[in-house]
Amino acid sequence: MAQVALNKLVKRYGAYQALHEVDMTVENGEFVVLVGPSGCGKSTLLRTIAGLEEISGGTISIGGRVVNTIRPKERDIAMVFQSYALYPHKTVRKNMSFALKLAGVAQPEIDKAVERAAAILGLEPLLDRKPKQLSGGQRQRVAMGRAIVRNPQVFLFDEPLSNLDAKLRVQMRAEIRELHQRLGATTVYVTHDQIEAMTMADKIVVMRDGHIEQIGHPLELYDRPANRFVAGFIGSPAMNFIEGQVDASGTDRFIASDGTAIPVSARLGILKRSPAVLAIRPEDLSIVEENTPGAFPGMVSVVETTGPETIVIANSCGTRLSVVIKERSRLKLGEKVWLSADVSKLHFFEASKDGRRLAA
Ligand SMILES: Nc1ncnc2c1ncn2[C@@H]1O[C@H](COP(=O)(O)OP(=O)(O)O)[C@@H](O)[C@H]1O
Ligand SMILES: [Mg+2]
Repeated sequence: MAQVALNKLVKRYGAYQALHEVDMTVENGEFVVLVGPSGCGKSTLLRTIAGLEEISGGTISIGGRVVNTIRPKERDIAMVFQSYALYPHKTVRKNMSFALKLAGVAQPEIDKAVERAAAILGLEPLLDRKPKQLSGGQRQRVAMGRAIVRNPQVFLFDEPLSNLDAKLRVQMRAEIRELHQRLGATTVYVTHDQIEAMTMADKIVVMRDGHIEQIGHPLELYDRPANRFVAGFIGSPAMNFIEGQVDASGTDRFIASDGTAIPVSARLGILKRSPAVLAIRPEDLSIVEENTPGAFPGMVSVVETTGPETIVIANSCGTRLSVVIKERSRLKLGEKVWLSADVSKLHFFEASKDGRRLAA
Protein backbone atom coordinates (compact mmCIF):
# COMPACT_ATOMS: atom_id res chain seq x y z
CA MET A 1 0.00 0.00 0.00
CA ALA A 2 1.12 3.52 -0.60
CA GLN A 3 0.26 7.16 -0.57
CA VAL A 4 -0.13 8.90 -3.94
CA ALA A 5 0.82 12.57 -4.02
CA LEU A 6 0.50 14.97 -6.94
CA ASN A 7 2.35 18.23 -6.72
CA LYS A 8 1.66 21.05 -9.20
CA LEU A 9 0.98 18.48 -11.87
CA VAL A 10 0.72 19.95 -15.37
CA LYS A 11 -0.23 18.15 -18.56
CA ARG A 12 -0.22 19.75 -21.99
CA TYR A 13 -1.28 18.25 -25.28
CA GLY A 14 0.54 20.61 -27.66
CA ALA A 15 -0.88 24.07 -26.98
CA TYR A 16 -3.83 22.71 -24.99
CA GLN A 17 -3.40 22.50 -21.23
CA ALA A 18 -5.40 19.59 -19.84
CA LEU A 19 -4.21 19.80 -16.22
CA HIS A 20 -3.42 23.02 -14.36
CA GLU A 21 -1.02 22.64 -11.41
CA VAL A 22 -3.04 19.93 -9.76
CA ASP A 23 -2.26 19.33 -6.06
CA MET A 24 -3.82 16.27 -4.50
CA THR A 25 -2.94 13.57 -1.98
CA VAL A 26 -4.47 10.14 -1.71
CA GLU A 27 -3.62 8.72 1.69
CA ASN A 28 -2.50 5.16 2.18
CA GLY A 29 -5.57 2.91 1.91
CA GLU A 30 -7.92 5.77 1.02
CA PHE A 31 -10.67 5.50 -1.63
CA VAL A 32 -10.67 8.78 -3.53
CA VAL A 33 -13.20 9.54 -6.27
CA LEU A 34 -12.33 12.04 -8.98
CA VAL A 35 -15.53 13.47 -10.41
CA GLY A 36 -16.32 16.12 -13.00
CA PRO A 37 -18.03 16.62 -16.34
CA SER A 38 -16.81 14.88 -19.46
CA GLY A 39 -13.60 16.41 -20.79
CA CYS A 40 -12.46 17.97 -17.50
CA GLY A 41 -9.26 15.91 -17.36
CA LYS A 42 -10.12 12.94 -15.15
CA SER A 43 -8.76 10.23 -17.44
CA THR A 44 -5.71 12.34 -18.20
CA LEU A 45 -4.99 12.66 -14.49
CA LEU A 46 -5.40 8.93 -13.93
CA ARG A 47 -3.24 8.07 -16.91
CA THR A 48 -0.44 10.31 -15.68
CA ILE A 49 -0.50 8.49 -12.32
CA ALA A 50 -0.33 5.17 -14.15
CA GLY A 51 2.54 6.44 -16.29
CA LEU A 52 0.58 6.08 -19.53
CA GLU A 53 0.96 9.81 -20.23
CA GLU A 54 4.13 11.84 -19.92
CA ILE A 55 3.68 14.87 -17.71
CA SER A 56 4.61 18.46 -18.61
CA GLY A 57 5.40 19.71 -15.10
CA GLY A 58 5.22 18.97 -11.39
CA THR A 59 5.74 15.67 -9.63
CA ILE A 60 3.92 12.41 -8.97
CA SER A 61 4.98 10.39 -5.93
CA ILE A 62 3.85 6.91 -5.02
CA GLY A 63 4.80 5.60 -1.59
CA GLY A 64 7.12 8.56 -1.10
CA ARG A 65 9.07 7.93 -4.31
CA VAL A 66 8.92 10.37 -7.23
CA VAL A 67 7.87 8.29 -10.24
CA ASN A 68 7.89 10.95 -12.98
CA THR A 69 10.29 8.94 -15.12
CA ILE A 70 9.46 5.47 -13.83
CA ARG A 71 7.87 3.22 -16.43
CA PRO A 72 4.23 2.12 -15.92
CA LYS A 73 5.17 -1.49 -15.22
CA GLU A 74 7.45 -0.47 -12.40
CA ARG A 75 4.93 1.76 -10.64
CA ASP A 76 3.15 -1.17 -8.97
CA ILE A 77 -0.25 0.04 -10.11
CA ALA A 78 -3.21 -1.76 -11.64
CA MET A 79 -5.77 0.05 -13.76
CA VAL A 80 -9.34 -0.99 -14.60
CA PHE A 81 -10.91 0.68 -17.63
CA GLN A 82 -14.45 1.29 -18.81
CA SER A 83 -13.86 -0.99 -21.79
CA TYR A 84 -12.83 -4.12 -19.95
CA ALA A 85 -10.24 -4.91 -22.61
CA LEU A 86 -10.39 -8.65 -22.01
CA TYR A 87 -8.72 -11.04 -24.43
CA PRO A 88 -11.71 -12.57 -26.27
CA HIS A 89 -10.06 -15.89 -27.06
CA LYS A 90 -8.65 -16.54 -23.60
CA THR A 91 -10.60 -18.07 -20.73
CA VAL A 92 -11.30 -16.09 -17.58
CA ARG A 93 -8.44 -17.94 -15.87
CA LYS A 94 -6.02 -17.04 -18.65
CA ASN A 95 -7.22 -13.45 -18.80
CA MET A 96 -6.51 -13.14 -15.11
CA SER A 97 -3.14 -14.86 -15.15
CA PHE A 98 -1.72 -13.32 -18.31
CA ALA A 99 0.06 -10.36 -16.73
CA LEU A 100 1.69 -12.54 -14.10
CA LYS A 101 2.84 -14.97 -16.74
CA LEU A 102 4.40 -12.14 -18.73
CA ALA A 103 6.13 -11.00 -15.57
CA GLY A 104 7.69 -14.45 -15.24
CA VAL A 105 5.86 -15.47 -12.06
CA ALA A 106 6.01 -19.22 -11.33
CA GLN A 107 2.89 -21.25 -12.24
CA PRO A 108 1.95 -22.40 -8.70
CA GLU A 109 2.09 -18.82 -7.51
CA ILE A 110 -0.05 -17.67 -10.45
CA ASP A 111 -2.64 -20.35 -9.69
CA LYS A 112 -2.79 -19.23 -6.08
CA ALA A 113 -3.23 -15.57 -7.00
CA VAL A 114 -5.95 -16.36 -9.55
CA GLU A 115 -7.82 -18.60 -7.12
CA ARG A 116 -7.67 -15.98 -4.41
CA ALA A 117 -9.00 -13.26 -6.73
CA ALA A 118 -11.67 -15.58 -8.13
CA ALA A 119 -12.85 -16.37 -4.61
CA ILE A 120 -13.01 -12.70 -3.65
CA LEU A 121 -15.04 -11.87 -6.77
CA GLY A 122 -17.21 -14.98 -6.91
CA LEU A 123 -15.70 -15.97 -10.25
CA GLU A 124 -14.77 -19.58 -9.37
CA PRO A 125 -17.54 -21.22 -11.43
CA LEU A 126 -16.63 -19.09 -14.45
CA LEU A 127 -12.87 -19.63 -14.68
CA ASP A 128 -13.05 -21.77 -17.81
CA ARG A 129 -15.45 -19.56 -19.73
CA LYS A 130 -14.55 -17.08 -22.44
CA PRO A 131 -15.57 -13.41 -22.15
CA LYS A 132 -18.41 -13.71 -24.67
CA GLN A 133 -20.03 -16.31 -22.39
CA LEU A 134 -20.23 -13.76 -19.56
CA SER A 135 -22.66 -10.99 -18.68
CA GLY A 136 -21.49 -7.36 -18.52
CA GLY A 137 -21.18 -7.48 -14.76
CA GLN A 138 -19.19 -10.70 -14.86
CA ARG A 139 -16.82 -9.22 -17.44
CA GLN A 140 -16.32 -6.20 -15.25
CA ARG A 141 -15.49 -8.56 -12.38
CA VAL A 142 -12.91 -10.34 -14.51
CA ALA A 143 -11.33 -6.99 -15.34
CA MET A 144 -11.10 -6.31 -11.61
CA GLY A 145 -9.76 -9.81 -11.01
CA ARG A 146 -7.00 -9.11 -13.47
CA ALA A 147 -6.05 -6.10 -11.38
CA ILE A 148 -6.30 -7.91 -8.05
CA VAL A 149 -4.00 -10.81 -8.99
CA ARG A 150 -1.17 -8.35 -9.34
CA ASN A 151 -1.62 -7.30 -5.73
CA PRO A 152 -0.72 -3.72 -6.58
CA GLN A 153 0.01 -0.86 -4.19
CA VAL A 154 -2.51 1.34 -5.98
CA PHE A 155 -5.73 0.66 -7.88
CA LEU A 156 -6.88 3.07 -10.56
CA PHE A 157 -10.43 2.82 -11.95
CA ASP A 158 -11.56 4.82 -14.98
CA GLU A 159 -15.39 4.87 -15.20
CA PRO A 160 -15.52 1.10 -14.72
CA LEU A 161 -19.31 0.90 -14.43
CA SER A 162 -20.35 3.13 -17.33
CA ASN A 163 -21.20 0.21 -19.61
CA LEU A 164 -23.51 -1.49 -17.13
CA ASP A 165 -27.25 -1.03 -16.73
CA ALA A 166 -28.50 1.04 -13.80
CA LYS A 167 -29.31 -1.83 -11.48
CA LEU A 168 -26.02 -3.60 -12.02
CA ARG A 169 -24.17 -0.33 -11.50
CA VAL A 170 -25.67 -0.01 -8.04
CA GLN A 171 -24.70 -3.59 -7.22
CA MET A 172 -21.14 -3.25 -8.54
CA ARG A 173 -20.73 0.02 -6.66
CA ALA A 174 -21.28 -1.86 -3.42
CA GLU A 175 -19.02 -4.71 -4.54
CA ILE A 176 -16.15 -2.40 -5.35
CA ARG A 177 -16.51 -0.73 -1.94
CA GLU A 178 -16.54 -4.12 -0.23
CA LEU A 179 -13.52 -5.16 -2.21
CA HIS A 180 -11.75 -2.04 -1.05
CA GLN A 181 -12.61 -2.83 2.54
CA ARG A 182 -11.09 -6.28 2.21
CA LEU A 183 -7.96 -5.32 0.31
CA GLY A 184 -7.41 -1.87 1.81
CA ALA A 185 -5.47 -0.72 -1.26
CA THR A 186 -5.04 2.94 -2.07
CA THR A 187 -7.61 3.65 -4.79
CA VAL A 188 -8.32 6.45 -7.24
CA TYR A 189 -11.71 6.01 -8.92
CA VAL A 190 -12.85 8.22 -11.79
CA THR A 191 -16.49 8.87 -12.66
CA HIS A 192 -18.67 11.58 -14.17
CA ASP A 193 -21.54 10.39 -11.98
CA GLN A 194 -21.89 12.40 -8.80
CA ILE A 195 -24.06 9.73 -7.15
CA GLU A 196 -21.28 7.20 -7.64
CA ALA A 197 -18.88 9.70 -6.11
CA MET A 198 -21.14 10.44 -3.14
CA THR A 199 -21.84 6.80 -2.35
CA MET A 200 -18.35 5.38 -2.82
CA ALA A 201 -15.79 7.96 -1.78
CA ASP A 202 -13.86 8.48 1.42
CA LYS A 203 -12.88 11.73 -0.24
CA ILE A 204 -14.17 13.40 -3.40
CA VAL A 205 -12.10 15.55 -5.73
CA VAL A 206 -14.28 17.72 -8.00
CA MET A 207 -12.61 18.77 -11.25
CA ARG A 208 -13.52 21.28 -13.94
CA ASP A 209 -11.49 22.27 -17.01
CA GLY A 210 -8.28 20.73 -15.67
CA HIS A 211 -8.58 22.47 -12.28
CA ILE A 212 -9.53 21.08 -8.91
CA GLU A 213 -12.60 22.93 -7.65
CA GLN A 214 -12.90 21.32 -4.21
CA ILE A 215 -11.63 18.33 -2.21
CA GLY A 216 -13.57 16.95 0.72
CA HIS A 217 -15.66 14.29 2.37
CA PRO A 218 -18.89 13.69 0.40
CA LEU A 219 -21.13 15.38 2.95
CA GLU A 220 -18.73 18.27 3.35
CA LEU A 221 -19.12 18.96 -0.37
CA TYR A 222 -22.86 18.55 -0.13
CA ASP A 223 -23.31 20.76 2.91
CA ARG A 224 -20.66 23.39 2.19
CA PRO A 225 -19.88 23.55 -1.53
CA ALA A 226 -16.98 25.95 -2.08
CA ASN A 227 -18.49 27.53 -5.15
CA ARG A 228 -21.49 27.56 -7.41
CA PHE A 229 -20.04 24.93 -9.74
CA VAL A 230 -19.62 22.34 -6.98
CA ALA A 231 -23.01 23.29 -5.56
CA GLY A 232 -24.66 22.62 -8.90
CA PHE A 233 -22.67 19.48 -9.71
CA ILE A 234 -23.16 17.57 -6.46
CA GLY A 235 -26.73 16.62 -5.62
CA SER A 236 -29.74 15.37 -7.59
CA PRO A 237 -32.10 16.99 -8.34
CA ALA A 238 -29.61 19.80 -8.59
CA MET A 239 -29.30 22.78 -6.25
CA ASN A 240 -31.64 25.71 -6.99
CA PHE A 241 -30.02 29.07 -7.71
CA ILE A 242 -31.84 32.37 -7.33
CA GLU A 243 -30.23 35.58 -8.51
CA GLY A 244 -30.94 38.77 -6.61
CA GLN A 245 -29.71 40.68 -3.63
CA VAL A 246 -30.19 41.10 0.05
CA ASP A 247 -32.82 43.72 0.81
CA ALA A 248 -30.99 47.03 1.03
CA SER A 249 -33.29 48.38 3.72
CA GLY A 250 -33.56 45.36 5.94
CA THR A 251 -31.38 42.53 7.14
CA ASP A 252 -33.53 39.49 6.70
CA ARG A 253 -34.88 39.28 3.18
CA PHE A 254 -33.36 38.24 -0.11
CA ILE A 255 -35.03 39.91 -3.07
CA ALA A 256 -34.98 37.75 -6.19
CA SER A 257 -34.52 39.39 -9.59
CA ASP A 258 -38.30 39.25 -10.19
CA GLY A 259 -38.99 41.00 -6.88
CA THR A 260 -39.98 37.92 -4.85
CA ALA A 261 -38.88 38.22 -1.21
CA ILE A 262 -37.42 35.19 0.56
CA PRO A 263 -36.74 35.31 4.31
CA VAL A 264 -33.09 34.76 5.25
CA SER A 265 -31.40 35.10 8.59
CA ALA A 266 -29.25 38.18 9.05
CA ARG A 267 -25.81 37.41 7.61
CA LEU A 268 -23.46 40.33 7.82
CA GLY A 269 -20.93 38.97 5.32
CA ILE A 270 -23.52 38.91 2.60
CA LEU A 271 -25.19 42.20 3.31
CA LYS A 272 -22.13 44.04 2.13
CA ARG A 273 -21.95 42.19 -1.13
CA SER A 274 -24.99 42.32 -3.29
CA PRO A 275 -25.86 41.20 -5.93
CA ALA A 276 -25.55 37.58 -4.89
CA VAL A 277 -26.92 34.14 -5.63
CA LEU A 278 -29.08 32.37 -3.09
CA ALA A 279 -28.90 28.57 -3.36
CA ILE A 280 -31.35 26.09 -1.88
CA ARG A 281 -31.32 22.30 -2.13
CA PRO A 282 -34.62 20.86 -3.40
CA GLU A 283 -35.22 19.03 -0.11
CA ASP A 284 -34.81 22.26 1.83
CA LEU A 285 -37.81 23.79 0.04
CA SER A 286 -41.34 22.82 0.94
CA ILE A 287 -44.84 23.49 -0.28
CA VAL A 288 -46.87 25.25 2.41
CA GLU A 289 -50.21 26.95 3.08
CA GLU A 290 -50.68 30.41 1.63
CA ASN A 291 -50.77 32.15 5.00
CA THR A 292 -47.49 30.64 6.23
CA PRO A 293 -45.15 33.44 7.30
CA GLY A 294 -42.44 34.03 4.71
CA ALA A 295 -44.08 31.86 2.05
CA PHE A 296 -43.46 32.96 -1.53
CA PRO A 297 -45.44 32.08 -4.66
CA GLY A 298 -44.69 29.73 -7.52
CA MET A 299 -46.53 28.06 -10.40
CA VAL A 300 -46.30 24.29 -10.88
CA SER A 301 -44.71 23.39 -14.22
CA VAL A 302 -43.70 19.72 -13.75
CA VAL A 303 -44.62 17.00 -11.25
CA GLU A 304 -42.46 13.85 -11.23
CA THR A 305 -43.24 10.90 -8.98
CA THR A 306 -40.47 8.47 -8.11
CA GLY A 307 -42.46 6.40 -5.61
CA PRO A 308 -40.88 7.36 -2.31
CA GLU A 309 -40.90 11.04 -3.17
CA THR A 310 -42.27 13.65 -5.53
CA ILE A 311 -40.27 16.25 -7.41
CA VAL A 312 -42.23 19.41 -8.10
CA ILE A 313 -40.77 21.99 -10.45
CA ALA A 314 -42.26 25.43 -9.99
CA ASN A 315 -41.74 28.69 -11.82
CA SER A 316 -40.76 31.10 -9.08
CA CYS A 317 -38.27 33.84 -8.27
CA GLY A 318 -37.55 34.42 -11.95
CA THR A 319 -36.37 30.84 -12.45
CA ARG A 320 -37.47 27.22 -12.08
CA LEU A 321 -37.20 25.76 -8.59
CA SER A 322 -37.13 22.02 -7.84
CA VAL A 323 -38.83 20.95 -4.66
CA VAL A 324 -38.56 17.41 -3.29
CA ILE A 325 -41.41 16.34 -1.07
CA LYS A 326 -41.99 13.05 0.70
CA GLU A 327 -45.75 13.01 0.24
CA ARG A 328 -47.64 12.03 -2.88
CA SER A 329 -48.96 15.07 -4.62
CA ARG A 330 -52.22 16.01 -6.29
CA LEU A 331 -50.78 19.22 -7.68
CA LYS A 332 -51.79 20.10 -11.21
CA LEU A 333 -49.75 21.80 -13.88
CA GLY A 334 -50.28 25.54 -13.79
CA GLU A 335 -51.51 25.48 -10.19
CA LYS A 336 -50.35 28.24 -7.87
CA VAL A 337 -48.37 27.06 -4.85
CA TRP A 338 -46.65 28.65 -1.87
CA LEU A 339 -43.06 27.77 -1.13
CA SER A 340 -40.98 28.03 1.98
CA ALA A 341 -37.22 27.62 2.40
CA ASP A 342 -35.48 26.23 5.48
CA VAL A 343 -33.66 29.35 6.67
CA SER A 344 -30.95 27.32 8.39
CA LYS A 345 -29.98 25.54 5.16
CA LEU A 346 -29.42 28.40 2.73
CA HIS A 347 -26.22 28.89 0.74
CA PHE A 348 -24.95 32.14 -0.76
CA PHE A 349 -22.54 32.58 -3.63
CA GLU A 350 -20.96 35.55 -5.35
CA ALA A 351 -22.78 36.62 -8.48
CA SER A 352 -19.40 36.65 -10.30
CA LYS A 353 -18.22 34.05 -12.79
CA ASP A 354 -16.31 32.06 -10.13
CA GLY A 355 -19.35 32.13 -7.87
CA ARG A 356 -17.38 31.59 -4.66
CA ARG A 357 -19.21 30.69 -1.49
CA LEU A 358 -19.99 33.67 0.71
CA ALA A 359 -19.29 33.17 4.38
CA ALA A 360 -22.52 32.71 6.24
N1 LIG B 1 -4.16 12.61 -26.63
C1 LIG B 1 -4.77 13.81 -26.55
N2 LIG B 1 -4.45 14.81 -27.38
C2 LIG B 1 -5.04 16.03 -27.28
N3 LIG B 1 -6.00 16.34 -26.39
C3 LIG B 1 -6.39 15.37 -25.54
C4 LIG B 1 -5.80 14.06 -25.58
N4 LIG B 1 -6.39 13.32 -24.60
C5 LIG B 1 -7.28 14.14 -24.01
N5 LIG B 1 -7.27 15.36 -24.56
C6 LIG B 1 -8.12 16.50 -24.16
O1 LIG B 1 -7.91 16.76 -22.79
C7 LIG B 1 -9.12 17.08 -22.14
C8 LIG B 1 -9.36 16.13 -20.99
O2 LIG B 1 -9.62 14.85 -21.49
P1 LIG B 1 -9.93 13.61 -20.55
O3 LIG B 1 -8.88 13.54 -19.50
O4 LIG B 1 -10.11 12.42 -21.40
O5 LIG B 1 -11.32 14.04 -19.89
P2 LIG B 1 -12.36 13.20 -19.00
O6 LIG B 1 -11.74 11.88 -18.72
O7 LIG B 1 -12.55 14.04 -17.78
O8 LIG B 1 -13.61 13.12 -19.79
C9 LIG B 1 -10.20 17.02 -23.21
O9 LIG B 1 -10.44 18.32 -23.65
C10 LIG B 1 -9.58 16.17 -24.29
O10 LIG B 1 -10.10 16.52 -25.55
MG1 LIG C 1 -12.43 9.94 -19.23
